[in-house]
Amino acid sequence: MVSASDFIGRDVITVGDFQRDEILFLLDAADRFDAQHGRPLAGRVIATLFFEPSTRTRLSFESAVGRLGGNCIGFAEAGVSSQAKGESLTDTVRVVEGYSDLLLIRHPKEGAARLAAEYVGIPVVNCGDGAHQHPTQTFLDLYTIRREVGRLDNLHVVFAGDLRYGRAVHSLVTVLALFDAKITLVSPGFLRLPEEQLQALDALGVVHEETESLEEALPGADVLYMTRVQRERFSDPLEYEKFKDTYRLDLKMLEHGSDELAILHPLPRVTEIAPEVDAKPHAAYFRQAHYGVAVRKALLALLLGCADEVLA
Ligand code: CP
Repeated sequence: MVSASDFIGRDVITVGDFQRDEILFLLDAADRFDAQHGRPLAGRVIATLFFEPSTRTRLSFESAVGRLGGNCIGFAEAGVSSQAKGESLTDTVRVVEGYSDLLLIRHPKEGAARLAAEYVGIPVVNCGDGAHQHPTQTFLDLYTIRREVGRLDNLHVVFAGDLRYGRAVHSLVTVLALFDAKITLVSPGFLRLPEEQLQALDALGVVHEETESLEEALPGADVLYMTRVQRERFSDPLEYEKFKDTYRLDLKMLEHGSDELAILHPLPRVTEIAPEVDAKPHAAYFRQAHYGVAVRKALLALLLGCADEVLA
């Protein structure tokens, strides 16, 4: 049986670091932390080392720390850190380890968070490493699905957009295997889910299909996970121009989905969801961003061994 002590001192690098029961324990803890107004992180310092832009991940973590009575230090872009003077990531984290109790790292290079974790003795949380993984996004996505749909098991989840570079997709798609999901992958050929991820789905026995048509994928879906085509991951700007407007969910397209469809998006969005969709009850993406605070409060308190009072 999972307990809060199982989380203490752990790194969060990929979703594969967590078992199904541990994820469910975290989501239950998030329910408790959602209504928590104490100060279990009083005296703790969390470092946010963000070498890539962020709104939700950094600010929801900072909000979580503040609401739990802790303090944040850090930077929001590489240019204001000593990386601009040539300092290596491993030197930076070894220094900041002495200033803080836990490191939150976002970095454009795949594997950066794992590398950092090898150099420090305090927990490291991967807040997105290149096109690789974004595990805390996945935890809040699962939390959102459970809140919005009412369950996690046996869902039909449609992923649409940039499945090649989308780290939020890469993290969520394999975790859904733990919950017996059926998955439909909607993308143009160039932006397909990487082959190794497709093979992982096969190995996990996940029922999955691929199509280029959002219209055809929507009937029968419980969840639509829309994603942005990520300009910053394209080496050729012309390729980006070719694919950036491939999909657009508007009210007409939404008619192909059921009345119970939940629409998620890790955000930011560009043009892939029309603003007219925001007012529909299906549109869960702003609630999803807000749920991130509860999930990150619970995660931080668990990793730092400060959750007992709230969970008692
Ligand atoms: N979903 C997400 O990671 O958003 P940010 O890039 O704003 O942190």
